[in-house]
Amino acid sequence: MLSSNDYLGLSFHPKVIEAGRAAMLKWGTSTTGARPSNGSRKYHIELEEKLANFFGREACHVHAAGYLSCLSSVAAFAQKGDIVFADKNVHSCLWDGIRLSMATFERFSHNNPLDFREVVSTVDAKAPKMLVVEGVYSMEGHVARLPELVEVAEQYSCFTVLDDAHGLGVLGKQGRGTVDHFGLNDKIDVISGSLSKSLASIGGFVSGSKDVIEYLRTNSKQTIFSAAIPPSQAAAAQMSLEIMQTEPEHLERLWRNTKRYREMLNKLGLDTWGSETPAVPIVLGSKEAVYRFWQSLLEKGVFTVMSIAPAVPPGKDLIRTAISALHTDEQLEQIAEAMAYAARKL
Ligand SMILES: Cc1ncc(COP(=O)(O)O)c(C=O)c1O
Repeated sequence: MLSSNDYLGLSFHPKVIEAGRAAMLKWGTSTTGARPSNGSRKYHIELEEKLANFFGREACHVHAAGYLSCLSSVAAFAQKGDIVFADKNVHSCLWDGIRLSMATFERFSHNNPLDFREVVSTVDAKAPKMLVVEGVYSMEGHVARLPELVEVAEQYSCFTVLDDAHGLGVLGKQGRGTVDHFGLNDKIDVISGSLSKSLASIGGFVSGSKDVIEYLRTNSKQTIFSAAIPPSQAAAAQMSLEIMQTEPEHLERLWRNTKRYREMLNKLGLDTWGSETPAVPIVLGSKEAVYRFWQSLLEKGVFTVMSIAPAVPPGKDLIRTAISALHTDEQLEQIAEAMAYAARKL
């Protein structure tokens, strides 16, 4: 499997499995409803406090899906009359959040602070503004140019929302994410993300100041009217968070594997779109080449995912791959042989 988001490999960690099992035995399978109607449980509050602490934020709210969290991290804080500026490559949940907010939106070119400046400087100076970006773009493997983006956002008084679904567990101290990686915690208003990647669970979070999270809890429809994260998944995420802080070997192994993998692809002359993270695309440029490459990898027992236009810009048809701390040296060897085979067959 060369296409999961199990970056730290915790989905098979015995402590994570046991935490999920124990929580299910104690609390049952589901809260069977939304928190305002069926009540918050101890494990919701505990997970939220631990996440807030981890991010160095005052508060946090968890949802049953990362999609809901990231969508509501935009929809709850923008409204008609506001202007939202978004990197043109942000995830579909953020676009849905922008649409639901009824705000006007402007795209700027991918990870391009100069273009953001150009776009933001041409709109009504008095309109409330929001910047929406991701920390790590999983299709491209790029890290957001956050210091420069934040500088522009500050100059134009933009409220800032960052979806760090793929930065959490991968960047920053103990995997605290992209904001910590750049030391910009006081510059980002809202960090949202998913529990379904490095935290080896299901669900999502929105973190920010106490006032911001209280506003979300009382004004966001996705937060008020959707069933709470189930006990086993909350417990699995909480245990993963603890492991990130007590077992540094997973993060170290992730980056060691990533370095070895990237060197292997570079040696074969494959185009990885300048990926800087464990999410590594292999750009092949046409759907025919992508299919041939994907099929060759599969023949050698390596599973990847194809991404072709219009999901990617024309000419950027690619194979999506992602490295995990769980990949063994033997598996990396097998991947190297499969890549060489697929490259020869192109
Ligand atoms: C950047 C980003 N945000 C949000 C999500 C949604 O998270 P989930 O799949 O946990 O609902 C994803 C999932 O692919 C994602 O890549």
